[in-house]
Amino acid sequence: MLHLLVLKLPMAQTATAIDLDSFDVKALTIDEGYGVKGLSDMNLKTLPKQFIQPPEERFTEHTLILEESIPVIDISNWNDPKVADIVCDAAEKWGFFQIINLGIPAEILQSVMDATHRFFELPPKEKMKYNKKNSPTTNVFLRTSFVPEIETAMEWHDKLTFLYVSDEEAQSFWPPICRNQVLDYIKPCELLAKRLLGMLMKRLNVTEIDKSKESMLMGSKKVNLNYYPKCPEPELTIGIGCHSDLSTISILPQDVIGGLYVRKLENDSWIYVSPIDGALVINIGDALEIISNGRYRSIEHCVTVNKHHNRISAPFFAGPEPSAIIGPLEEVLESSGEKPLYKKVLYSDYAAHFFTKAHGGKDKIQFAII
Ligand code: OGA
Ligand code: NI
Repeated sequence: MLHLLVLKLPMAQTATAIDLDSFDVKALTIDEGYGVKGLSDMNLKTLPKQFIQPPEERFTEHTLILEESIPVIDISNWNDPKVADIVCDAAEKWGFFQIINLGIPAEILQSVMDATHRFFELPPKEKMKYNKKNSPTTNVFLRTSFVPEIETAMEWHDKLTFLYVSDEEAQSFWPPICRNQVLDYIKPCELLAKRLLGMLMKRLNVTEIDKSKESMLMGSKKVNLNYYPKCPEPELTIGIGCHSDLSTISILPQDVIGGLYVRKLENDSWIYVSPIDGALVINIGDALEIISNGRYRSIEHCVTVNKHHNRISAPFFAGPEPSAIIGPLEEVLESSGEKPLYKKVLYSDYAAHFFTKAHGGKDKIQFAII
């Protein structure tokens, strides 16, 4: 069937007719900088078929437990051993928790959120300067969906990724409209990640984080600015499909517009993460699951989209340095007498593997399992 619609492209002066069945949605969203935001701005009545997820990938197929929530931990006394215990328990049992009363100054969070809106509201021809083909640096790139080159169904989100190398590199190449806000945001994220990882390591008998441990735990720093625009048929697609993160630890400030769901470990059910003003969502990623020999668990999560609101998020990911060899720590194996459950892998190999397949729950970690 032909859907011949009259659409107003956001920056076009005149209405343009687009046949959505034959139109190259990937070229429009990715190469031409429109993104899914561009599609959303066209006020489509139906979801373009490229974004229709198979039923098993849609969130509507999951069992949702309404009465449960992930732990919310007040970490204002972060160097109190009792607080560290609660954090480590949450990382073991849930892999996901929210923290309040310490973290990132509200103004910094607000300005990175504002900068996210500003970037995605730029005209497509400005945004396309940062897609993989055009970006002035390999450390900043704009994408739509996760790996659109290989996915059979695309995810309903646009994403601007920043790999932090140095302030100088950022000043030279990052988009001026959000550069300083992202840089200001990275600094407190780094400190918070360091404190949390310090607590988590102590329970694994690692009392001192020397240079080599630090490069294994947080030798790489990445920020994604995610944009999930309003969607005409949200129940047919997904914002981000079920996945675990690649990181050691992820820090995720929540927009007031909810949409994040976390898989509960014990049974096959899902829990909604309520946005709490001033809280940060923290989760364990695959790299820390491997390093801790499975003591801390990276948990599946996904993001739904909605019909009436644009949603944004700005996760910070600490991860191993690409050249680090990661595997279960000697300290953990010695103190517990456990056998390693994971192989030693070069982190850049693991990361490369992570991006060779569409999101599919925790399937990527198989790469490192013995
Ligand atoms: C991610 C992610 C959640 C969100 O970017 O890996 O899980 O709320 N984001 O945007
Ligand atoms: Ni994630």
